[in-house]
Amino acid sequence: MIIEEILKEYPKKIVIKNGEEVILRPLQKYDAERLFRFFKEGIEEEELALLKDNVKDPNTISRWCRDIHYERVFPLVAEKTSGEIIGDATLHMRDFGWAKFIGKIRFAVSKKYRNLGVGSTMIRELIEVARKLNLDKLWAEVISTQTAAQKALERLGFEKAGTIPKLAKDHQGNIHDVHIYILDIWKQEY
Ligand SMILES: CC(C)(COP(=O)(O)OP(=O)(O)OC[C@H]1O[C@@H](n2cnc3c(N)ncnc32)[C@H](O)[C@@H]1OP(=O)(O)O)[C@@H](O)C(=O)NCCC(=O)NCCS
Repeated sequence: MIIEEILKEYPKKIVIKNGEEVILRPLQKYDAERLFRFFKEGIEEEELALLKDNVKDPNTISRWCRDIHYERVFPLVAEKTSGEIIGDATLHMRDFGWAKFIGKIRFAVSKKYRNLGVGSTMIRELIEVARKLNLDKLWAEVISTQTAAQKALERLGFEKAGTIPKLAKDHQGNIHDVHIYILDIWKQEY
């Protein structure tokens, strides 16, 4: 399936565990301010320090929203009906080389909307997108302290393929192991 066909499937409405309606849709050019607010207000300082990009810099977010190439990075947001972004999950792809059939995922959910299935639903949605794009594997890097992420991935069929000891250093200088989780997309239905 080509990316344009996938984009036509959105927005999608879901109902989360507290009964609220939430919309899943790809990130758009006009989302910069709302996405910036999501990271600023929704994610704790120590969690921000474990992300790969400096989302406290508005230029980072502006760049993401300006340079949207869904076939390279497919960014999915979860949005309340009021327009507040409460979740962000991305699927990163390559168009060349041995990693061409591997998608890397990253995800975060606003503190006050955790444990309501938003994270799992967004990961499941990215699995579907990856399947439609004919990828073979999904890859997620999780720091050992990110236990909720490990739980969500394992429940969705991801397997811990390995651990790189003492790879990550947080903003306080603490060292953490990094787990590599892999999903074989075609192994079973999710
Ligand atoms: C990982 C994250 C996205 C999960 O979002 P979420 O919407 O709360 O996810 P879900 O509700 O779908 O599932 C979370 C599961 O973890 C469980 N969980 C929550 N806190 C936990 C903890 N400290 N230890 C273990 N499991 C935990 C929940 O109970 C839930 O499982 P359940 O549905 O069986 O009860 C969210 O915690 C987050 O944004 N963390 C910071 C960013 C991050 O770690 N990203 C991953 C690396 S890219």
